[in-house]
Formats: sequence, structure tokens, C-alpha cells
Amino acid sequence: MTDNVLIHLNNVTKHFEDDGRKVPVLKDIDLDVQRGEFLMLLGPSGSGKSTLLRLLSGLEKPDSGTLHMGVTSHSFVFQDFALFPWLTVAENIGFGLKMKGRSESEITAVVKDLVSEMGLDGFLHAYPRELSGGMKQRVGIARALAMSPEVMFLDEPFSALDTFTEVKLRLEVLKIWETRKITMVMVTHSVEEALFMADRIAVFSERPATISNIVKNPFPRPRNVHSAEFVRKVEEISNLVE
Ligand SMILES: Nc1ncnc2c1ncn2[C@@H]1O[C@H](COP(=O)(O)OP(=O)(O)O)[C@@H](O)[C@H]1O
Ligand SMILES: [Mg+2]
Repeated sequence: MTDNVLIHLNNVTKHFEDDGRKVPVLKDIDLDVQRGEFLMLLGPSGSGKSTLLRLLSGLEKPDSGTLHMGVTSHSFVFQDFALFPWLTVAENIGFGLKMKGRSESEITAVVKDLVSEMGLDGFLHAYPRELSGGMKQRVGIARALAMSPEVMFLDEPFSALDTFTEVKLRLEVLKIWETRKITMVMVTHSVEEALFMADRIAVFSERPATISNIVKNPFPRPRNVHSAEFVRKVEEISNLVE
């Protein structure tokens, strides 16, 4: 593994058991995650994207093939936010640090900075049920950032949000990626989102999924989703997905 490769999957296969029957989900997956990149996993629902994300993070083990991890810290952002409903915004964001035994004063300082960075001022003591979906996901992102991760795994983080909020949060996540230099691996089923955000797009085939193509994003940032070239490229990649 070179210095630039953080995670390396070689010939990885994964199946699940269903009523004693082996159901193959991923086969022959070869994939590198490079330091500092924004990598998108793109495919239809049920194609194994979340499973691959969990493999990349070490949460699941491959059945066969090899997985090399050169990562010391990572965190997750989930589609359904996965906040603790009984904890306040501040307590949700500080949860991981508290588990790690960090001091109250350190946690307070980190939480305060993240609350202001994520535009959550005034909501420190609110509970998740009092927040809009967009605000909940801001908390989810802040909670992930609190751990100062080397890699962030984002599993369809905007799928539960309305379009306006989605467009706003895409930009904010990109800003975080640019300023903090965190490697990001994100899952989406939106070709437009993939092409707007990522450096590289790993395109899934049907189940058992394999990565049929890795598309290098040809467009400089910031990208104009309305330009004719962008729209053409979205169409081209859509054809790969089907
Ligand atoms: N823990 C599990 N046990 C059994 N089957 C699973 C498990 N996790 C996922 N699957 C199955 O594996 C397939 C891929 O799931 P998933 O990775 O969640 O797909 P995606 O994220 O692309 O929608 C699905 O058919 C799903 O039902
Ligand atoms: Mg999924």
C-alpha cells in the first residue's frame, strides 16, 4: 500500500445468510480509498453500497479477499441521522468524546465550535424532536466531526431531506472537506449528487454487486449542474448504472 492509499480492498466478496441460504451481495470488489479524496459509491437501492461502506470502515469483515486499513480514526453520518433522542444537541455532538473519557471542559469547547460552524447556534439544549431534518443532519455531521476523523463515511446523508436543504448541505459538506482535508467516502443513488461532489465515482452493477466502473470527475470545482457538459455527463453515467 502506498502512502496515498488509506484503505485497500482486493478481490473482496461478501454474502449474507437468509433462512440458511447464502445470498451473495458483493463480489470481486477492488477499490482503493486515497488520502484526501472525495470518493462516491453510486448504485441503485439494494446493490450493496451500505455493506461496502461498512466493510471499508471495518464494521463488517469480508468473506474472502483482503482489506488493508491505514486509518486511525473514522466516523459515520447516517441517512436517518441516528441521533440519541434522549440527549440534547450538545450531548449528541459530545457523545463520542465523552465515551473516550475527554474532560468536560474540552468537550464543551469542541461542541461550542462545532455548533457555531454548523449553524446550530441557539439549539445547544434542544432535543432532536425539536429540530427539522436539516438541523438533525447538521447535528449528525457535527457529531462525526467532533471525533476529528481521518475519514468520514456518509451513507446517503441527504436522502431524508427536502431538495433545498439537500442542496445547501451538499455545499456545506464540500466546504468541510476542503477546509479540514478529511477523506470522505459517501454513498448516493443520485448521479447528479455524485458528479457535483466527488473526485471519483465507483459505479455499482446489479447484485451480486461489483464495481463496474470508476469514473474520474472531469469537472473543476465549483461545478455548475446546469451546464450542458455536466448534464451530458450525468446522462452518460446514468447509462452505466442501468
Ligand atoms: N445484515 C444483513 N443480513 C442479511 N442481508 C443483508 C444484511 N445487510 C444487507 N443485506 C442485504 O444485502 C443487500 C445489499 O444491502 P445494502 O448494502 O444495504 O444495499 P444498499 O445500501 O445499496 O441499498 C440487500 O439485498 C440487503 O437486503
Ligand atoms: Mg444503503
